Amino acid sequence: VLAGGGERDLAGKHVVVSAGGTREPLDPVRFLGNRSSGKQGYALARSAVARGARVTLLSANAALPDPAGVDVVHVGTAVQLREAVLKAAADADAVVMAAAVADFRPETYATGKIKKKDGQEPAPIALVRNPDILAEISADRPRPGQVVVGFAAETDDVLANGRAKLARKGCDLLVVNEVGERKTFGSEENEAVILGADGSEIPVPYGPKDALADRIWDEVVRRG
Ligand code: CTP
Ligand code: CA
Repeated sequence: VLAGGGERDLAGKHVVVSAGGTREPLDPVRFLGNRSSGKQGYALARSAVARGARVTLLSANAALPDPAGVDVVHVGTAVQLREAVLKAAADADAVVMAAAVADFRPETYATGKIKKKDGQEPAPIALVRNPDILAEISADRPRPGQVVVGFAAETDDVLANGRAKLARKGCDLLVVNEVGERKTFGSEENEAVILGADGSEIPVPYGPKDALADRIWDEVVRRG
């Protein structure tokens, strides 16, 4: 079954999707991470393949099988993801940042396992900022006319926060979900609003992540 009503409306296009969550190592056995499963990004990759796109999926620590027909690049950290995005985006028609990128990483990496010391409290972990990949490619599009899409999970005034984030990042579309009762982490379903830099606001009702993926590609195609 083809997605999007069976249309191959992404034929001849190269799309880049990031998925999962970055892990920022502290030592050889420990990391700072997040709970992103990668399912929404993988759904985006499958949907784009079904619509005829050449798809590069930059997968950060997602415990999911590589989707058929997709070029999958596995990365670990935010810095590695940035390198992979910049490389893949050079000739891309669209870039969708579905990955949860760690905002901070430990300032230092211990090459040996960090050990407890008798009678001593642990030292605090110093953090530094990671690069903002979405803001960087939005500001400096590797290819003219490239459509750039971000994601955001928000609480409180979800739409106002989403609008402000869209403006701050400079992307074309921001897919905003509310973090709450029906958890989006690890779930097969999602509910979102797709905000456009042109002022558009498209609510997507609670449903499969595949359906949200198709709706996102519809909006990308409209702008491509
Ligand atoms: N993102 C990114 N690089 C980062 C952080 C986030 O590319 N260092 C991308 C994410 O992939 C996502 C979007 O930016 O598509 C929004 O992520 P979010 O964490 O909501 O944005 P932040 O600017 O980090 O805002 P907050 O302080 O609310 O976490
Ligand atoms: Ca963040």
